[in-house]
Amino acid sequence: MKKKLTLLLMLAMAFFSAGAQNISLQKGWRLSIGDSPTWSSPGFDDSGWQRADLSKSWEQQGHPNVDGFGWYREHIVIPSSIKEKAFLKDSLTFTLGSIDDNDQVFLNGKLIGEYGGLGGVITESHYGPRNYTIATNNPAILWDKDNVLAIRVFDTGGDGGVYGSFFNIHMTDVMEHVEFDKNHDFSFGDNNSLGKSIVLTTKNKYNYKGTVLLKVIDPETNAVVLTKKTDTAHFTEGKPFQWWFTFAAAQKKSYIVAYVFTDKKSGKSIYDRETTPYMLTPAVSKLPKINGASIFGARPGHPVLYLIPATGQKPLKYKVQGLPEGLTLDAATGIITGTIDKKGSYPLVFTVTNSKGSDTKKFTLAIGDNIGLTPALGWNSWNAWGLSVNDAKVRTSAREMAERLSAHGWAYINIDDGWEAEERAANGKIATNSKFPDMKGLTDFVHGLGLRMGIYSSPGTRTCGGYLGSWQHEDDDAQSYADWGIDYLKYDWCSYGQIAPQNPNLDEMKKPYLVMRKSLDKANRDIMFSYCQYGMGDVWKWGAEAGGNSWRTTGDITDTWRSMSEIGFKQDPAAPYAGPGHFNDPDMLVVGKVGWGPALHNTRLTFDEQYTHISLWSLLASPLLIGCDMGNLDRFTLSLLTNDEVLAIDQDALGKSARQYGDKEGVQVWVKEMKDGSKAIGLFNTSNKYQTLSLSANDPAIKGYTKFRDAWRQQNIPAVSGKVAPHGVLLVRVSK
Ligand code: GLA
Repeated sequence: MKKKLTLLLMLAMAFFSAGAQNISLQKGWRLSIGDSPTWSSPGFDDSGWQRADLSKSWEQQGHPNVDGFGWYREHIVIPSSIKEKAFLKDSLTFTLGSIDDNDQVFLNGKLIGEYGGLGGVITESHYGPRNYTIATNNPAILWDKDNVLAIRVFDTGGDGGVYGSFFNIHMTDVMEHVEFDKNHDFSFGDNNSLGKSIVLTTKNKYNYKGTVLLKVIDPETNAVVLTKKTDTAHFTEGKPFQWWFTFAAAQKKSYIVAYVFTDKKSGKSIYDRETTPYMLTPAVSKLPKINGASIFGARPGHPVLYLIPATGQKPLKYKVQGLPEGLTLDAATGIITGTIDKKGSYPLVFTVTNSKGSDTKKFTLAIGDNIGLTPALGWNSWNAWGLSVNDAKVRTSAREMAERLSAHGWAYINIDDGWEAEERAANGKIATNSKFPDMKGLTDFVHGLGLRMGIYSSPGTRTCGGYLGSWQHEDDDAQSYADWGIDYLKYDWCSYGQIAPQNPNLDEMKKPYLVMRKSLDKANRDIMFSYCQYGMGDVWKWGAEAGGNSWRTTGDITDTWRSMSEIGFKQDPAAPYAGPGHFNDPDMLVVGKVGWGPALHNTRLTFDEQYTHISLWSLLASPLLIGCDMGNLDRFTLSLLTNDEVLAIDQDALGKSARQYGDKEGVQVWVKEMKDGSKAIGLFNTSNKYQTLSLSANDPAIKGYTKFRDAWRQQNIPAVSGKVAPHGVLLVRVSK
């Protein structure tokens, strides 16, 4: 698997390594493929091992197609002088670039850090870089003597090994574990004011005392609109410093907040910045309103589960006209269940009533061979929890979705990697690990809320996280999923790279997906089939015919502008292949609190970048899979995910993806045709400055269209034109 080091992390690493006394670990490594417990031992003679190059994966160093175990070893003297010269003397950090995928790190035979599905404790984020910090009095360190650092790597597929940009040992710098903790959300006050706690934390015992200087900058004019300073910034491990600041009239657009903390004694500073949130989605009305797609597909004889998405003051009462025999409606919850044996297109009329009024909507239940007629709307555990996902986290997500999101059409709760055992049960059946004691019980719970349940596997022997895959157990696994009541399967290539021939041709790429397709077809359930093979072989050209309901078109996304925008704006080649029942999947959403492991952070996308992300993915008719901690949805994220006019663009029954209409320096225009003859148009400002973006009335994209509506603000506008913030968007629906 390929990993990405983000620019930000690289800058941060460069910053921290600049002042520190580094012992370079860039050279001197030896590599051996395979596995042995003796290889961690300092006495082991590794002189026969090949010399390793840390700028390359092991595939690129003569081990093509090797997945599984390999070891890196290095002899290194750690001089006590670095401790003497350091400002802080209590801990030593090993910075180990990227490790692909999972690792255990030994110093002189003693385990000092580990990550991933090797039975290890999952404390780090999946995509690294791996930084392991140990106390300077740890007896594993042999000061001024020969030390042996050994890394046991477990690669689950694709490239493998230890490689990347930064490899060193350094005394943990005085500012290394100091952070402006940006995970305290802004609070929205009266008169458009914003408030927030500036929080400084550290993992060091050192007593920090100094100054915080804060500046608020208007990105439209570059003017500093507010400066604040305090000399009272005192903090140490476990005792953060908190400083409340408020900013009047801040909710109309996004501002930049820049901070500097300077520690008096060491003279060192750290910098950080963030943007301020502003909400575009209007408040939800108390009047009843039916949301969501206008069509749902199911196969004959298979269980149907559909929750009528509706907002409005509770209690709501639901009614359905034309409900075919075999289905029943719960009038209090709006959940439709049952089965229909006969193929056909069933026209229904939904009515939802409360004390304020009622709303009706025409709806089609399409019983036939195709499911997933509009892109899946749901949650997936990966971008939030990585391999640390567990039963409780899934239940929280389901509860929160039912409480706050399902009224807008959100329906899937998908567990990604990390639920599987490391070995199969004696009868060959897939088993769960201890984090998921009762998969059937969990699925029943999710279904009880009117939501559907998804799961994850790999056609290889191992998943990307190192857990069990489905190789040669496809029928067994599909049956287990059906027994549990699973409704969605993400099937991730991972270690199948070991089984497929090198440079597989198209047939060889399709093969594992066709095998699982057959197995799923034998199960008596509608299971959405989501291909995850990172776009190999232009999967969009054949994914539908090979039985996929969606297919990943790219490698893994991360929460940076660079990652999100590079993926999103490169989707045009795949766009013509999207349609009802089969959609391009440019990977899951990176809004809200993400982390790929147990420690989460607010997405590093600015608020305008988040508007761009949701707008672009909706225009692309992409599955929208929320990748954040649902138990901690802040007001902004919630407003971002509950804009019914924006979601309607994604959920349009025509199922077309937007096409790239304009691409010039700093501006992207994407146009999506909609079922009712209207169009959804995104005008994106990809530059770093405010711009006015417009389409003239004569522009072929809108010629003859007379009604323009700003989808985020849900307001009619006189022309397709608006001031757009850096990395922001104007999303317009135009009709005749
Ligand atoms: C791959 C996929 C991710 C996620 C992980 C799980 O990297 O692309 O979306 O499923 O595997 O290990």
